[in-house]
Amino acid sequence: MFLRWSYLRFLFGLRHMGATWQVGDGREQALADYVCTHARRNDIDDVIRAIDEFCYTKSYLINIGDEKGKLLDRAVAAAQPRRLLELGTYCGYSALRIARVMPADAVLYSIEFNPANAAVARRIWDHAGIGERIVVIVGTLDDDGRTLSTLGDKHQFAPGTLDFVFIDHEKDAYLPDLRRILDHEWLHPGSVVVADNVKYPGAPQYRAFMRGQEGLDWHTREHPSHAEYQKIIKDVVLESTYLGRPDDEQSVSGPNHLVQDEQQHP
Ligand SMILES: C[S@@+](CC[C@H](N)C(=O)[O-])C[C@H]1O[C@@H](n2cnc3c(N)ncnc32)[C@H](O)[C@@H]1O
Repeated sequence: MFLRWSYLRFLFGLRHMGATWQVGDGREQALADYVCTHARRNDIDDVIRAIDEFCYTKSYLINIGDEKGKLLDRAVAAAQPRRLLELGTYCGYSALRIARVMPADAVLYSIEFNPANAAVARRIWDHAGIGERIVVIVGTLDDDGRTLSTLGDKHQFAPGTLDFVFIDHEKDAYLPDLRRILDHEWLHPGSVVVADNVKYPGAPQYRAFMRGQEGLDWHTREHPSHAEYQKIIKDVVLESTYLGRPDDEQSVSGPNHLVQDEQQHP
């Protein structure tokens, strides 16, 4: 897979990717076309299957992928969240996986910087028949309060209301955006935050923060895995449970050591 033209083309497109979060050869729009012609309408399993097929056989994309996606599935299923927030929609793949396992009355809010990616995701979600269970908001948590206000004023984000966060956007923004969420006190003891790509491309500040917080405000499990759609580059997914601030009456106690998940191939 590594030497496939699609992956090389992706590497050539990294500069374009850095500016726009699209590879630059139209593959994100091609994915939506592929899904609409190769996946059964209103069949979320078949849409996820078709996206993985496209990534393995046509063009590499930066979705969480099938291997790490199973870790995400399990974290959502265990948390049984009602209100979820995703940072980094891209083509909507991880949102599909989340929506497939979240409770029937849950709503996922997904924040995406690039409106073209949001449009691709909406098209795919509509084909899967789950468009009404996911709200995509074009913006960032760092856009002078615009997106934070939209979440608060329009979507009733309030202290203690956010059950689950999936962080998968700009790697340097993981920790600052988590701090923004904490500053708004949207989390409650027991809220779960999953972060992709902590080892590759890497979010070292976020990882160091969670290590420093172990047993204090957070309890984290580190899940060793691989970067999406291949078995060579290693990656790590963090699954962190918010224990609440030490002076918080509701805070729950957690183990005082970081857990390394030994499961290599979930
Ligand atoms: C790795 S992709 C997300 C993949 C997606 N979660 C999945 O697994 O299907 C990262 C996405 O985050 C978006 N992004 C980058 N910086 C962002 C920011 N500060 N806020 C929100 N989205 C951002 C990019 O446009 C891109 O679509």
